[in-house]
Amino acid sequence: MRVWRKRRVRRMGGAMNYRHQFHAGNQADCVKHALFVALLRGMQRKPKPLMVLDTHAGLGAYDLQSPASQRTLEAQSGIVRLRAAAPPALADYLGLAGAADAYPGSPALARALLRAEDRLVLCELHTEDGAALRRRYRDDPSVHVHIRDGYAALKALLPPPERRALVLIDPPFEQQDEFSTLATGLALAQARFRAGVYTAWYPLKSRAPVRDFHAALQVLGVLDVIDCTFAWRAPLDAMRLNGCGLVVVNPPYQFAAEAETILAALASVFAEEGAFWSVTRVTDE
Ligand SMILES: C[S@@+](CC[C@H](N)C(=O)[O-])C[C@H]1O[C@@H](n2cnc3c(N)ncnc32)[C@H](O)[C@@H]1O
Repeated sequence: MRVWRKRRVRRMGGAMNYRHQFHAGNQADCVKHALFVALLRGMQRKPKPLMVLDTHAGLGAYDLQSPASQRTLEAQSGIVRLRAAAPPALADYLGLAGAADAYPGSPALARALLRAEDRLVLCELHTEDGAALRRRYRDDPSVHVHIRDGYAALKALLPPPERRALVLIDPPFEQQDEFSTLATGLALAQARFRAGVYTAWYPLKSRAPVRDFHAALQVLGVLDVIDCTFAWRAPLDAMRLNGCGLVVVNPPYQFAAEAETILAALASVFAEEGAFWSVTRVTDE
């Protein structure tokens, strides 16, 4: 583990080029956030306090009229299309997804659903985005912002005093070995806190890295993992983002069935030729 941490600290010394503002509200955000809302709702069926930990939080919420969003126009093929089609199965998520020119990040979605007894912990390594996140939540006692490495936070913040947690790991995949870091992070987190519910987002460019990721989770002995995949087109061109997925460790009761309904609704709007979606089991309980 010491070697793993040293390697990450060395890598983090490099430039962090990724800014989520360029991508806010794109198809991948819609897939991730629709599933994340269902997961959080699922955990809140129990009336016990919950910590929500977002290890790679971003800015918190996004202005779709900002120069960065206007440059890429990624929201046009994502949330803008989804709002226009408004499939009933996505009503909960779309109701939280706000007004035309804005889009919530995972922190804003989690904050909107937080109950009085819950706590939201946000980690962001980019100093400017972390500072913006701090300003956004500075008067909110339910939200704690850390400008730090989200993977290191898994070790530092788990297990939580509440003994219930939903952890979102949503890295930018700027690093070649992000899939392997993710698998190791999930294994470490589950070893520290078996009862936690963990979900991690990944890009689907081609199939092979995802197969290897699933195999790594099996080899590392991460228990009770399901995978929710949505390719909006056939993943044939590995230079493009053709889809994405979320793995969920310890999914709440009925989440897999809800995820199937959500993916089918997303597909009714986003699917192109060769699209596919599935909810499958990666490892047993
Ligand atoms: C995909 S974005 C997060 C989006 C956000 N979770 C959402 O759904 O709204 C990834 C974020 O992780 C940040 N980041 C990159 N490496 C990190 C690390 N090691 N620890 C914490 N944050 C990191 C990036 O600066 C970026 O803001």
